[in-house]
Parts: sequence; C-alpha cells; structure tokens
Amino acid sequence: MKDKIKIIEVGPRDGLQNEKKILDIQARLELIKKLADAGMKRIEVGAFVSSVWVPQMAESIELTREVLKLQAAGQFSKEIRFSCLVPNVRGMEDALKSGISEVAIFGACSETFSKKNINCSIAESFIRFRQVMEMAQYHKIKVRGYLSTAFGCPFEGRVNETRVVRLVRAMVKLGVFEVSIGDTIGVATPKQVESLLKKLRRMVNLNKIAMHFHDTRGTSLANVYASYNLGIRAFDSSVGGLGGCPYAKGASGNLATEDLVYMLKGMGIFLNIDIEKLIQIKKWAEEKLERELPSRVGKAGLPEKSTY
Ligand code: HMG
Ligand code: MG
Repeated sequence: MKDKIKIIEVGPRDGLQNEKKILDIQARLELIKKLADAGMKRIEVGAFVSSVWVPQMAESIELTREVLKLQAAGQFSKEIRFSCLVPNVRGMEDALKSGISEVAIFGACSETFSKKNINCSIAESFIRFRQVMEMAQYHKIKVRGYLSTAFGCPFEGRVNETRVVRLVRAMVKLGVFEVSIGDTIGVATPKQVESLLKKLRRMVNLNKIAMHFHDTRGTSLANVYASYNLGIRAFDSSVGGLGGCPYAKGASGNLATEDLVYMLKGMGIFLNIDIEKLIQIKKWAEEKLERELPSRVGKAGLPEKSTY
C-alpha cells in the first residue's frame, strides 16, 4: 500500500466559507502558512464568488496575490499548488487578476442545490463552465471540477447514480484535470460509494477522480477506505474538520485532515505531513473562530509514544 496519495486541503475555502465568524485576510493567510508548514501540498486559498453570497470569501484576490508573492519570494515551497473556486466568467476574470495558475469550477448533481448554490440550473452551469474553460485554456490555467450532492441532496434526497456518472463524464469532457465528487451533506455509506465507483470506472479513469467526504454522520473515513480499495488516490479534507456549505443545512464538517492522515499513515502509506502540527492548527482555528472543531485526532491527540 505504498501508492502516492494526494490530499487537497480545503480548510481555508470550504472550511471558512461556512463559519459564522468571518476571518480577515491576515488570519486566512496565517492559516495557509501553517498548513504549508505542516506539509500540505495542495491548498485551496479562497473563492472568486459574490461576497454578498459568501462574505467569508471576500478579498480572495488580495489574499491569493499575497500567497503567490510569498511563494515567489521563496517563503512557500514551489511544490505547493494553490487553487481558488471560480463559478463563472466574472470569477475567472478575478482569477486572472490574482495571478493564480489553478482554479476549480463547481457544479452539483441535483437541480435545487445548483440553483441555491450558484443561482442556475445544471445545464446553465455547464454553459458557464465551458466559458471558464475557454478562458483557462487560453491562459494556460489548470482547472479542477467539483460535483456536489453526489450521494444526497438536502432538498431532493437520494441522488441517482446514473445521473452522477453522466455529470462526471461531462465534466471530464470539458477538460478538467480532476473531478472531486462531493458528499456535501455527509449521507454516504461505503456500500453506496463502492456502487458509484464501480459504475464510474467503466466510463472514467479513476485516477481523474478525487473524493470529498463530509463527516456529518461519522461515515467519512469508512468511505475513504472503500474508495481507496477501489483505486481512488486523491482526497479532499479540511484541518480540524472545518466547514460545510452555506447552501446545505446540516452539511457540517468536512472530513478532518488530521483524521485522514492518521488513518492513511496507519495503513502504511507514506505522507510527509506532520499530524502534530495539524492538531496545533486546529487549536489555533478554534481560538480564532471561537468554537470547538470536530476532528477526532485533534481532540484525542496522537497515542503516547507514537511515531506518527
Ligand atoms: P448571481 O447573482 O446569479 O450573478 O450570482 P449575476 O450574474 O446575476 O450577477 C449579480 C451580481 O453579482 C452582479 O453585480 C455581478 O457582477 C456579481 P452587480 O451588477 O449587481 O453589482 N457577480 C459576481 N461578483 C463576484 N464574483 C463573481 C460574480 N458573478 C457575478 N464570480 C454567483 C452567481 C455564482 C456569483 C453566486 O451565486 C455566488 O457567488 N454563489 C456562491 C457560491 C459559493 O461559493 N458556494 C459555496 C461553494 S461550496 C460548494 O459548492 C460545495 C463544495 O465545497 C464541495 C462540497 O462540499 O460538496 C465545492
Ligand atoms: Mg465540502
């Protein structure tokens, strides 16, 4: 079990976008610095979305510029890839202003969620994505894709697998380098994950897929394990278990990065990530946000005398 695993740290974006307490860009930058220091190699910095809709992500252009400036000055490793969310042409224009070289488009597998999240139908969202892709290709910017509510929608209930497979294929066809499949409200169980991935692998190479689990009902690590056994090697997580989605009631808690790293290391997978530092970041974030975060390893700490 020595395959290379990719962990995409979404705390500064997916994590903070749902917090009541809004952090200024200095605090967001501090969080990103701490994550880089802990060994995270892919970090989502922010989102070029409307600050009327998501005030927590305001000033993402300024934050991204600062991050890239520090990277150019050698304060962040050149290996680290930073990314931001982009919903439409206006968002892509902001991405270009920021100088970032990787962005993520984000759609949904259920109509009501699409409407509530990005104010358009799924079909309309793909028209916007195509426009964003054209701009990105012209400017040689890498694009990741997200598909939320792949297992369940807070408004429509269970989501049909065939529809999810069709949407993943459509996103891959757009030219994204990876599709992140999201269990936005944390309802999936390993059987469902296996069933979806077995259908999907007939149509799409699974090395193009990342899984994005929420721990709302305690199934996220079991879902990671099921995905891993079917060949998935990319997982999204957020330090401390920060996050959720402002348009999905009850979507509390992305899978915590320290819980994910602890399990993967325990499976014998090499990851150059410092769990102790992640635990310190969780404590720092709790102070900043004035609330307790849900990660298990963060609460319990590492076992004594451990070499993790
Ligand atoms: P809209 O209101 O439909 O946009 O919003 P519009 O085109 O009608 O324009 C209305 C106003 O918004 C205009 O300004 C535009 O310029 C402005 P005005 O003329 O009134 O002054 N506008 C923008 N401003 C900043 N950035 C933009 C932008 N676009 C238009 N990009 C929009 C459409 C998508 C912008 C809006 O619905 C929005 O910002 N939604 C928030 C989306 C979001 O961030 N959701 C959380 C993401 S989490 C998620 O999707 C799940 C995920 O985390 C995975 C998982 O957990 O499952 C990825
Ligand atoms: Mg999420």
